[in-house]
Amino acid sequence: MNVASVILAAGAGTRMRSKLPKVLHPLGGQPMIMYTINLAMQVSSQPPVLVIGHGAKLVRDRVGDCVRYVLQEQRLGTGHATLQARDELRGRSDAVLVLFGDMPLLTPPGVTRLLEAFAQNLPTIALLTLTVPEGADAMGFGRLVRDAEGRPTAIVEEVVATPEQLRIRELNAGISCYRADWLWDHLTQLHVSAKGEYYLTDLVAMAASEGEQVVTVSVEDPTDLLGINDRIHLAQAEAILRQRVNTELMRGGVTLIDPASTYVEVGVRVAPDTVIYPNTHLLGDTSVGDDCIIGPNAVIRDSTIGPRCQIVASMLDSAVLGADVSVGPFARLRNGARLDSGVHMGNFGEVKNSYLGPGTKMGHFSYVGDATIGAKVNIGAGTVFCNYDGERKHATLVGEQVFIGSGTMLVAPLRVGPGAKIGAGSVVTHDVPADTVVYGVPAQQRGKVHGDEVAEQPEEAVSEEQRLSEEGGA
Ligand code: UD1
Ligand code: CA
Repeated sequence: MNVASVILAAGAGTRMRSKLPKVLHPLGGQPMIMYTINLAMQVSSQPPVLVIGHGAKLVRDRVGDCVRYVLQEQRLGTGHATLQARDELRGRSDAVLVLFGDMPLLTPPGVTRLLEAFAQNLPTIALLTLTVPEGADAMGFGRLVRDAEGRPTAIVEEVVATPEQLRIRELNAGISCYRADWLWDHLTQLHVSAKGEYYLTDLVAMAASEGEQVVTVSVEDPTDLLGINDRIHLAQAEAILRQRVNTELMRGGVTLIDPASTYVEVGVRVAPDTVIYPNTHLLGDTSVGDDCIIGPNAVIRDSTIGPRCQIVASMLDSAVLGADVSVGPFARLRNGARLDSGVHMGNFGEVKNSYLGPGTKMGHFSYVGDATIGAKVNIGAGTVFCNYDGERKHATLVGEQVFIGSGTMLVAPLRVGPGAKIGAGSVVTHDVPADTVVYGVPAQQRGKVHGDEVAEQPEEAVSEEQRLSEEGGA
């Protein structure tokens, strides 16, 4: 069966009290409309048709070209909104699925069962319904009216329902599927309601009166049907979504010390046996390897974390970490920070657009920007890679096994050869050859390094041992 889908998203969303169109409000890190679009793409091979109106340009700019757009100039109701898709879809499908853009928690199973029921019975209309217990909040949903034989005869909107109809517990979920040719012929026959709207739901009475078949499929989980009308609903949806994501993680072998304070966006991957401590945010395109310890208080966005890493109380943005890397507390990794395996980055450090080779250590309050650093380098406390001259950024290259003493300023552009040693407090303005010892302001060459030994003693009163501050170590 060939199914086309229409997503209604033209409404103003007045109760959000927002400049932003309702369907663009973020939920789990994505505009809420994306959930419905993704669902539509899962159940239909055709790109969905998105009916837009309020904030149309903003919606188009944000959603892009994964959907086809039609414009509803005036908000004249769900029937009128669906009609706008007719020119785009007529003759292109056997069935038309209508979804609402403000129901982001809907999951594929319910919709799939609706489509299965449609394909099996080939009715004129198939509806998703929800039966709520006596006395439960009907959430303003339309009521499904049935005749003595139990056949659906109408949907009555809450605003026009009689007291008797209001007692009906079987509700219209709002998701429906139609025989395409019948839909496109009948949408123009809808009558305007007392509220001045053309209700899509009036098609049920129309079909019933023509003796056409209307079937229903019930939804099990009412949280699927949470409609977002205001920011209270938005927060509720956020909590439900978070719970779903966290449940998936735990099923997949991840320990969450406190799911209620673990914020993981949809699409983030975490491997088994990783432990996540409270107040951790894993955002965007992030993946975390196995056996990591993340948090407490970690904010990690668009980053790739290797296995067995430890990240405590730190912020990572667009960073890549190899295996066995430890970060924090109070570290900041910015875009393009790449920490190879075994790197230790301690407290109050910042790394931007830089590579740190395997086993390199920067224990205490350093800034590394635009640098490429080899393996097993020691970056002493308070070292600054001075990458900016006031106009442009410059690069620094540090070879493997370099020792950088505490409080060193490395003024880029700069190259430090492998095995070199830089004394504490140096301001390095010129390239440092391999295996040499430099220090001072500005730093000058004072000798050579052979292994760990210094070959020539400089003519200064201060000894080499004092200069090469051990403080700069781990
Ligand atoms: C609708 C159903 C109701 C059902 C409920 C479930 C109708 C008439 N009523 O009511 O039976 O129980 O959903 O949530 O269909 N929209 C447009 N253009 C318009 C009007 C609406 O695009 O002119 C869009 C809205 O942006 C929204 C969706 O259609 O995404 C639903 O409209 P809404 O006004 O929220 O319908 P409900 O009153 O919730
Ligand atoms: Ca609604």
